[in-house]
Amino acid sequence: MVTEFRSAHWYGGDDRNGYIHRAWMRRGLPDSAFSGRPHIAIANTASDLTPCNAHLDEVATSVRDGIHEAGGIALNLPVVSLGETNVRPTAMLWRNMAAMATEELLRANPIDGVVLLGGCDKTIPSLLMAAASVDLPAIVVPGGPMLTGTFRGKVLGCGTDVWRLSEDVRGGALSREEFTRSESAMIRSRGHCNTMGTASTMALVAEALGVLLPGLAGTPAPDSRLLSAAHGTGRLAVELIAADRRPSTFLGAGSFHNAIVALAAIGGSTNAVVHLLAIAGRLGIPLTVADFDRIGADVPLLVDLQPAGRYLMEDFHRAGGLPAVLREVRDLLDPAALTVTGRPLVEYLDDARSWDPAVIRPRADPVQPAAGIAMLRGNLAPDGAIIKPAAASPELLRHRGRAVVFDSIEDFHARIDDPDLDVDRDSVLVLRGCGPRGYPGMPEVSNMPLPRKLLAQGVRDMVRVCDGRMSGTAYGTVVLHVTPEAAAGGPLALVRTGDHIVLDVPSRLLELDVPAGELAARQPSEASASAYAAPSRGWQRLYIDHVQQADTGADLDFLTGSSGSHVGRESH
Ligand code: FES
Ligand code: MG
Repeated sequence: MVTEFRSAHWYGGDDRNGYIHRAWMRRGLPDSAFSGRPHIAIANTASDLTPCNAHLDEVATSVRDGIHEAGGIALNLPVVSLGETNVRPTAMLWRNMAAMATEELLRANPIDGVVLLGGCDKTIPSLLMAAASVDLPAIVVPGGPMLTGTFRGKVLGCGTDVWRLSEDVRGGALSREEFTRSESAMIRSRGHCNTMGTASTMALVAEALGVLLPGLAGTPAPDSRLLSAAHGTGRLAVELIAADRRPSTFLGAGSFHNAIVALAAIGGSTNAVVHLLAIAGRLGIPLTVADFDRIGADVPLLVDLQPAGRYLMEDFHRAGGLPAVLREVRDLLDPAALTVTGRPLVEYLDDARSWDPAVIRPRADPVQPAAGIAMLRGNLAPDGAIIKPAAASPELLRHRGRAVVFDSIEDFHARIDDPDLDVDRDSVLVLRGCGPRGYPGMPEVSNMPLPRKLLAQGVRDMVRVCDGRMSGTAYGTVVLHVTPEAAAGGPLALVRTGDHIVLDVPSRLLELDVPAGELAARQPSEASASAYAAPSRGWQRLYIDHVQQADTGADLDFLTGSSGSHVGRESH
């Protein structure tokens, strides 16, 4: 039980400093605001440049009502927001900056707890990283997916169908005018992408971690139940402070175990791996990529959503949401792992059921029997790489092929459709310089488009190997997050076109078939090294000097762990 609020260190006392802190904050607040009532920030990533989060001000109003109703003081705190489709060179470059800025703002201000409002891909991860490092009572409200759009009678899935429609234009099946017309049909309402991309994944994984009201994740952004849950979250935030329930008090290894089970069962984005590793790093929980393989590899895929499947998030919510999924795999969950409500996650599964077994399948009839992420090792990825076998072509999971190497994404675009490029369906496309340090920021470029001449031959998938990430809306036999990245001295930098690469997913192997002695004598190519980022100033400079590799979540080295919420010094 909390006896004195943290904010009382600002507002308590009748000295000059107490006067200053209170006087500027009054603005109509009653005297009672400054004694015995918790001050709760609403860390709000609403921004017109983050269209997926643009509606969060309305959500914040409901949170505010709940906080006030329960006796707290609600304070809107706009924080760094990242719009996945807008921000260059990649929103991932700014995730750690957003996390750092939010962490520092939470610590520096007179608040006792925080409600975190996120949605678009990087926003929930950055908010959770910040909250973990400040360790004040914290709870998430995910902004929710947008409603299903249709165009010419067909359902459109965000992201996934952009690729399909643009291929239709290339192939002459769709005019450019119709293509443009489909834009407004795809983005039909407020909310984030409605496929099982990174935003949907991170909201669901956050629910499995236990950091939001069970059953809330996946509620569509325009659904009035989102607002009533936001209201309830505001009320609960006041209780969290009274109970001193902070991230470090209820998030443990079991929470991450449950998140990994959920990630596999929903067929979630590979990006969740780096985000969960980074969040665990802030909490001092020793999570590794191997844990994703160990815990998740045999979990069945129960959710039939795009990009791998058919349906969209509105269907998922209608079918019962995450509790309906987790109920099917209840025996695989850690029964002791708590949620922010103080009760274990598994207690919320008793009444759950799937209302549409086509969307959320029963355990006995999964979409795929084993869906988790596999970790590969070998001389090409000494610290590991990942692949999502469920999104890959079964016949390519054991493959040996000749490397065709690209030193940058620009090099790739310049040459991939060259009719003279020496490439065939058995080749392995290798793209490097796309890791955290090399690009910088580890962009979603690993699912390289296939050479046009092979597409024309009917080839639909090839083995691809890259030190970058892949969009959660994409799929293919793509080896991602090769670690160390080429720009950090990884052997990926030494691959030459014509070398043979061996991928053996059942054996968890990624090998470059070059004798060790020859490999040791090689130097990275000039072309590859000159493509690495070399920023001279600003965040990018700080980032490439301190960013860690994908296997630990690509956080900055000095941001891992927690500093707590204590600030010893006054401002005057
Ligand atoms: Fe924001 Fe997809 S662009 S969630
Ligand atoms: Mg994305």
